[in-house]
Amino acid sequence: MLGVTGSIAAYKAAAIASGLTQQGALVDVVMTREATEFVRPLTFEALTHRPVVSDVLALLPGWEIAHVAMAHDADIFVVAPATAHTIAKLALGLADDPVSATGLSTQAPGVLAPAMETGMWQHPATQAHIGTLRQRGWIIVAPESGRLASGAVGEGRMAAPERIVDVVKHVAARGGDFAGWKVAVTAGGTREAVDPVRFLSNRSSGKMGQAVAEAARDRGAEVVLISTVSLPRLEGVELLAVESADEMADAVLGALDRVDALVMSAAVADFKPAAKAGEKIKRRDGTPQLLLVPTVDVLSTAKARRAETGRPLIVGFAAETQNLLANAREKASRWEVDLVVANDVSLEGSGFGSDMNQVTILRSSGENLDLPLMPKIDVAHRLLDELVKLRRR
Ligand SMILES: Cc1cc2nc3c(=O)[nH]c(=O)nc-3n(C[C@H](O)[C@H](O)[C@H](O)COP(=O)(O)O)c2cc1C
Repeated sequence: MLGVTGSIAAYKAAAIASGLTQQGALVDVVMTREATEFVRPLTFEALTHRPVVSDVLALLPGWEIAHVAMAHDADIFVVAPATAHTIAKLALGLADDPVSATGLSTQAPGVLAPAMETGMWQHPATQAHIGTLRQRGWIIVAPESGRLASGAVGEGRMAAPERIVDVVKHVAARGGDFAGWKVAVTAGGTREAVDPVRFLSNRSSGKMGQAVAEAARDRGAEVVLISTVSLPRLEGVELLAVESADEMADAVLGALDRVDALVMSAAVADFKPAAKAGEKIKRRDGTPQLLLVPTVDVLSTAKARRAETGRPLIVGFAAETQNLLANAREKASRWEVDLVVANDVSLEGSGFGSDMNQVTILRSSGENLDLPLMPKIDVAHRLLDELVKLRRR
């Protein structure tokens, strides 16, 4: 259920209704009378293909009280934008409009995205009400700083619709098939410093790892994402930002004891410069010779831990540019991991940098799962399906 109130940000609620609908949710919208002055119910009806309730006295066919029936069916109640006025009503338990009445009627977890002028947001009354709602279990999506409708710049602008949708997905994940799992995911290409301004790296964008982290989060896992890239923050995912292979190894080893699965989708450098020059290497000093040394082998430590304790399940990624299956199979037997995701990064429109990927998942049983070209988020879900089967076994 989406509650919309009388803020100038009400037009952004259309993007939230649309985003949730596109993710497969059934979205019932309730509005205050003031909200309908900003956006007409028709907008939401057209986006959700469901009736909108903007009158607290409305009845559904069959004489059900509209907001009560909807509140009873709701899995999550999102109030976005939430005005100062509605926040106060929710905290006090008033119920003279469909949004505040739903707040009282529903048992569903609540998500609140405040939107207002800085002065209203920082007022002790509003802050006290927010404190009360938080104590009752409401999840508050904090407003952002930026340009407000009045033209002033300050705190109070509603969080971006995509972020609110992301929070809802996180809340909806409770009870998914990964509930109770702790998953570590590595993402991105590492950067190995040559001198203070230069590094050796690779073309990995980190999008595949980000997708695995998002998919695992959406299925209820507690996720730590160890990443070299700054992609949009995933709500509810612990982010460890790293740069080099050494930093990534430290972060993985630090997380190893607390995870059930380790998905190593980062492109970790195999070699790094033996030493980092203290100052920028100058052209006038002639062509430098770079001596490379191997980076730390995280996999063997992870495997030793798995041999001792039976955890974590380990997934390796093999990016190849030739003889995909032969190379990947060779890696699978050498690495002794539970699953290997092999992809040919020389293919156009797949792999590095793309939102799409075409992979083969190699199981330790020797059976391969060949997947067609699909969005990385779908590849991530297929991979998690395989992990669930392994864990059951
Ligand atoms: C143009 C305009 C924009 C407004 N924007 C906000 C806002 O962003 N946040 C807020 O708390 N109130 C805002 N208000 C004031 C609310 O509309 C007013 O407090 C109203 O009673 C809220 O009713 P509701 O919470 O039942 O929807 C705005 C008013 C106007 C005229």
